[in-house]
Amino acid sequence: MSDIARNTPTGGLQRRLETNSILLLLAILLLVSIGGIIEITPLFYLHNTIEKVEGVRPYSPLELSGYNIYVREGCYTCHSQMIRPLRDEVERYGHYSLAAESMYDHPFQWGSKRNGPDLARVGGRYSNDWHRDHLRDPRSVVPTSIMPGYPFLAQTPLDAAHIVEQMKTLRIVGVPYTDAQIDNAAADLSAQSAPDDPGAEAMRRRYPNAVVYDQAGKNGITEEDALIAYLQHLGVSVNFKLYDDKAAVNVR
Ligand code: HEC
Repeated sequence: MSDIARNTPTGGLQRRLETNSILLLLAILLLVSIGGIIEITPLFYLHNTIEKVEGVRPYSPLELSGYNIYVREGCYTCHSQMIRPLRDEVERYGHYSLAAESMYDHPFQWGSKRNGPDLARVGGRYSNDWHRDHLRDPRSVVPTSIMPGYPFLAQTPLDAAHIVEQMKTLRIVGVPYTDAQIDNAAADLSAQSAPDDPGAEAMRRRYPNAVVYDQAGKNGITEEDALIAYLQHLGVSVNFKLYDDKAAVNVR
């Protein structure tokens, strides 16, 4: 042992720690857990770590069904839904993503791979017809596309038998579905896919901003309809113009 270690008040303790690996391990565990407790404890006293943002709402039953298909087909293996606050991303995709915008996604679809573009704000960028063509045969609208086609989605009737259970389950983990939304799930689902449905008005009250589609067609609601309803809702909940205008006023 060096002279310095022997001559300091903690020299003896230090020697024991450094020569006894079990003791050292216990001391490390103690120190690390103190650090951990300091970091974690405040989280128990916060109601929510995500700031609520006006306009963000749970998915409508049709959009939620589309979300399920997005997950099932593994779209996240090629697409992210997370616009980072970097200039090139914001210029290409729009306002950077807010935590609140994906707070009702279980599991979230941020993704980690971009073989295709980020989809966090793809809602409203293209028409429903464009999406239909693109999903059936991507190369019919983007000749150089490497995205696979999903023509079978248009042939497959949507199976939404479990949508009420899913909404109830999501409510358990914090998605604020109301009783009215759960009770009317089936009605809202069909109301969103037929513009002249008598329930469309009530559906829109329960799901502000929900776009009503004329997609039901001859086959009833298909998986493609649900997926497009989901895509068209991505990134449109928050009215950033409101915030940007306020920010502009503050700068002046
Ligand atoms: C093998 C990778 C791959 C998979 C899997 C994939 N995509 Fe794509 N996607 C791409 C590429 C590449 C593009 C860019 C070219 C194009 O527009 O087709 C793209 C483009 C898109 C666009 C247009 C985005 C824009 O801003 O122009 C949408 C919407 C889209 N994909 C949706 C989906 C959906 C929904 C699924 C799952 C059903 C899916 N993609 C699966 C690779 C993929």
